[in-house]
Amino acid sequence: MNIDIDTLTNEWDELSREYSELEDCNRTYIELLEQLHSHQQKCFNEIKHQRYRMNQICASLRQFKNVQSPDEKEKIANLEKNTIKRKAQLHEIEQSLPAKSGRYLRIILGDVNVSILNRNDKVRYKDEYEKFKLILNVIGLLMAFLNLLFNYRVLELSYIFLLVWYYCTLTIRESILKVNGSRIKGWWRAHHFISTVAAGVLLVWPQGEHWQLFRKQFMYFNAYISVVQYLQFGYQKGLLYRLKALGERHNMDITIEGFHSWMWRGLSFLLPFLFVGYAFQAYNAWTLYHLSYEPVDAPWHVSVMCGLFWVLFIGNLTTTLLVVPEKIREKTKERYRLISMGKSMKLRKMMKQNSISENDIDIAAENSVVTNVTSSLEDDGEKKCN
Ligand code: COA
Repeated sequence: MNIDIDTLTNEWDELSREYSELEDCNRTYIELLEQLHSHQQKCFNEIKHQRYRMNQICASLRQFKNVQSPDEKEKIANLEKNTIKRKAQLHEIEQSLPAKSGRYLRIILGDVNVSILNRNDKVRYKDEYEKFKLILNVIGLLMAFLNLLFNYRVLELSYIFLLVWYYCTLTIRESILKVNGSRIKGWWRAHHFISTVAAGVLLVWPQGEHWQLFRKQFMYFNAYISVVQYLQFGYQKGLLYRLKALGERHNMDITIEGFHSWMWRGLSFLLPFLFVGYAFQAYNAWTLYHLSYEPVDAPWHVSVMCGLFWVLFIGNLTTTLLVVPEKIREKTKERYRLISMGKSMKLRKMMKQNSISENDIDIAAENSVVTNVTSSLEDDGEKKCN
């Protein structure tokens, strides 16, 4: 190696020039972050303002309950429709803004921001959550069958431990989904908390006569639930696929139509399997109730599991029975929600494509592309805010 010191000094000078470019780039980035923060605050304030004025208009509208003239009736109906539409639009704008984590997430993860600020990424995260459930359910199904074939304590405990971990992970993922605007009902989240507790109780249930009498039924129940979860995956995956299509198709009406007709077909296929599952839960509770008396000296786990299965049965049945009427009642709201969501997904995709084509035109001018994209995002934020 015969490099002289002057060459090294020249190389260092060149590196220093590149470093000052890096510093400039970083400065621009920090400035953009500052601007981003101030635009976020502006959006929050404007959303608050929109909601405040909308509430005032809604309150005043109530005075027009007994109007007779068709012209006035039409104007009232229009205002009501616009209110529903605006609520959906505001909700969609909120999806691009950071949201605070709930208490549960703060306890588990600490005060960290888990907001996903892009609707397309939110859909991707949900997709991943569904895939996670699917994989774990396939493993669960295999383990349930293995436990039916072999009565080994280690195998049994591994399966129950997997259930504890699985449900615990679901509660965390669902809390993240909730922060990111998912409308998942409180009961389904509570259901997974209760399931974690139930799996924990099973883990410490001593291997005795009572457990041996319940064991086989429990494994069959889990195998059935895994199959139902597979069907649920098919349903949710179908909805997600159609949701993604909303961000791609030009004629949104057709896609919303397709979304709804698929949803109703999917639901009518899935519901009978769900109700059989709930009947199985009630049957488990009933069996455990009898086991708490006969044979004598039942451990406390029997009664606790009996109570938990009753709670799951009642909660699941009530919530699922309420889903269909709620979907019929909130048809208009749902339609506007999908329209706003589709528009937002398309907008983000267009911006991404813009940034890619600019990149193709002038790869070297990376900084200017960043600035262009950010300014178009800012413009969009301004439009939404104004
Ligand atoms: N677990 C997790 N998320 C659920 C959920 C569940 N059981 N049920 C609904 N969600 C989510 C939906 O994906 C949707 O999310 P999004 O806002 O991010 O798009 C949101 O909650 C609102 O869903 P909703 O419109 O009320 O219902 P749906 O059409 O998506 O699903 C059912 C309706 C009945 C099919 C669904 O609730 C379900 O599968 N329930 C049965 C669960 C069960 O009983 N499990 C035990 C088996 S015995």
